[in-house]
Amino acid sequence: MTQLIAIAGLSVAFSGVPVLRGVDLALQKGEALGLVGESGSGKSVTWLAALGLLPRHAQVAGSVRLDGREILGAPSAELDHVRGGRIAMIFQDPASALNPVLTIRKQLCEALALHRDLSGEAVKAEARRLLDLVGIPDAARRLSAYPHEFSGGQVQRVMIAMALAGNPDLLIADEPTTALDATIQAQILELLSLVRREMGMAMVLISHDLGVVAENCDRVAVMYAGRIVEAAPSNQLFADPVHPYAQGLIGALPPLDGPRRRLTAIPGTVPDPAHMPSGCAYAPRCALAGESCGLAAPTLAPIADDRSVACVRAEASRRAVLGMAAE
Ligand SMILES: Nc1ncnc2c1ncn2[C@@H]1O[C@H](COP(=O)(O)OP(=O)(O)OP(=O)(O)O)[C@@H](O)[C@H]1O
Ligand SMILES: [Mg+2]
Repeated sequence: MTQLIAIAGLSVAFSGVPVLRGVDLALQKGEALGLVGESGSGKSVTWLAALGLLPRHAQVAGSVRLDGREILGAPSAELDHVRGGRIAMIFQDPASALNPVLTIRKQLCEALALHRDLSGEAVKAEARRLLDLVGIPDAARRLSAYPHEFSGGQVQRVMIAMALAGNPDLLIADEPTTALDATIQAQILELLSLVRREMGMAMVLISHDLGVVAENCDRVAVMYAGRIVEAAPSNQLFADPVHPYAQGLIGALPPLDGPRRRLTAIPGTVPDPAHMPSGCAYAPRCALAGESCGLAAPTLAPIADDRSVACVRAEASRRAVLGMAAE
């Protein structure tokens, strides 16, 4: 596989308060990566920063390479070509991403005219094809409708159609189904998988729902307090998480089979970005934390092929998972 995008040492601060503290994350062409972590860990900011979409007062540093080419801080003309063309994003709040006073046809056609070499009837035909593709019944007629005339699930589908208009190599789907009920959610995710396979598109799926990530992603990256703390192939991460935080998250999952049990929530809360503990940010909540954990923030280091973890106690924690006594 070839690398599509590589984020290295990405940091973001708002008014001097760091919220991303050196994010390292890479994606292969066609790969589906799940990005998980508690609210406020920096999942959305990572991709907003990578695409140059943060407000001006954000201080951004690091590197984001698309096909080996640096895009962080690239001129806006180049970024306009990347956004919507090479990389499309479905935002957490889809309603705000559609213009309420324009028909869906108008909005889809604008996106198509901007990113594809199409004109006249070809644009309209492609708009219809996209709406059809995302499962909006009677697409030809529905093109004349305004956003408020669609249901929540349909708005989500329209958003996906808009994102696909530029024929992107990478789709960032930020909580694409949070507002939807379980059946519609499953349908939308199935649709995303289908389209992804058909178009050979890579995807970053940002989600609170680990079950959704397990089912839809090849690899998972776990974020905590502005850093990636573990990255691994999905099956390995869910079967054998190494970072104590990943273990906590996965321990909090209800088992798919077997008797129902109480969820084990991780005690404590995500630290306030303005008052980050020195050393490992997870240490104050970590059952395995030792003295060394308070000294320096651990770096993300490889522990096996395609697996990396940022924890000085990784070996101890691995033994704990295997049921052996940690020293
Ligand atoms: N425009 C902004 N100005 C100031 N702080 C911001 C801004 N955007 C995000 N933040 C802060 O950055 C941190 C990371 O936010 P982010 O939206 O990336 O979290 P997230 O992991 O996507 O959470 P969620 O799961 O709730 O969507 C938070 O502490 C948030 O308050
Ligand atoms: Mg978010």
